[in-house]
Amino acid sequence: MRRVLANKWIKVFVFLLCLWPLAALADRAFHGRLGANPVEFLQHATGDWTLRFLVFTLAITPFRKLFNLPELIRFRRMLGLFAFFYVCLHFLTYLGPDQSFDAAAIWKDVAKRRFITVGFIGFVLLIPLAITSTAAWIRRIGGKRWQQLHRAIYVAAVCGVIHYYWLVKSDIRKPLFYGVLVGILLLWRLAAWFSKRARRAAVPAVASRASVNG
Ligand code: HEM
Repeated sequence: MRRVLANKWIKVFVFLLCLWPLAALADRAFHGRLGANPVEFLQHATGDWTLRFLVFTLAITPFRKLFNLPELIRFRRMLGLFAFFYVCLHFLTYLGPDQSFDAAAIWKDVAKRRFITVGFIGFVLLIPLAITSTAAWIRRIGGKRWQQLHRAIYVAAVCGVIHYYWLVKSDIRKPLFYGVLVGILLLWRLAAWFSKRARRAAVPAVASRASVNG
C-alpha cells in the first residue's frame, strides 16, 4: 500500500478522480439531465462536493497516523484545493444564476439569511488557506504559524455543516451525517493536541527530576 501511495502516477490518478464530479456535472448539463431546476441541481451538487472534500482533507492526518501511512500527506494539499475549487463553483452558481451578480442584493442576502451568512464565512475562511497552500508560503510565514492558520479549515467545515443544517427544511439526516464526521475528526484532533501537550509537559518534569537525582 505504501509503495502504491508513493508512486508518482497515483497523484495524477487522484487528481483526475477529484475532477470526476465536475466531469459528471458537465456530462449531465451537455445531455440536458440537470432536472427541472438546473441551477438548484448545480448548487446542491457543488455544495455537497465542497463538504465531502473538506472531510477528505481533514481525514488525511488521522488516517495517516492510525494506519501508519505517512505517504498520504502527499494528497492533503490537493484535496484541500479541490474543496476550494468546488466551493468557488458553488459560490459562482449563487452569484450568477441566483443573484445576477448584483453586489447590493448579494450583500443584503448575506446579511439577511443566516444560512448564507455562515456559508459565506466558511468560504471566506478558505481563501487565505488556498492562497498560502504552497511550500513558499510555509517558508515565508514559518511552519508553526502556517499550521495555526490552516486550523481554520476545521472552522470552515463546521460553518459548512451549520450552513447545510440551516438550509434543509425537514430531513436533517445528511447535514447530521456530515456533522458527526466533522465532529469525530475535530475530537480526534483535540485529543492528539492534548496528548502532545501532556507529553511535552512531562519531558521537562522528567529532565528536572533526573538533574535533581543526578
Ligand atoms: C464552506 C463553504 C460552503 C459549504 C461547505 C457549502 C455546502 C453546501 C451544501 C452541502 C449544500 C446543500 C446541498 C444539498 O442539498 O445536497 C449547499 C447549498 C447551498 N449553498 Fe452552500 N456551501 C458553502 C458556502 C456557500 C456560500 C458562500 C454560498 C453563497 C453565498 C452558498 C449558497 C448556497 C445555496 C444558495 C444553497 C442552496 C440552498 C437551497 O437549496 O435552498 N453556500 N451548500
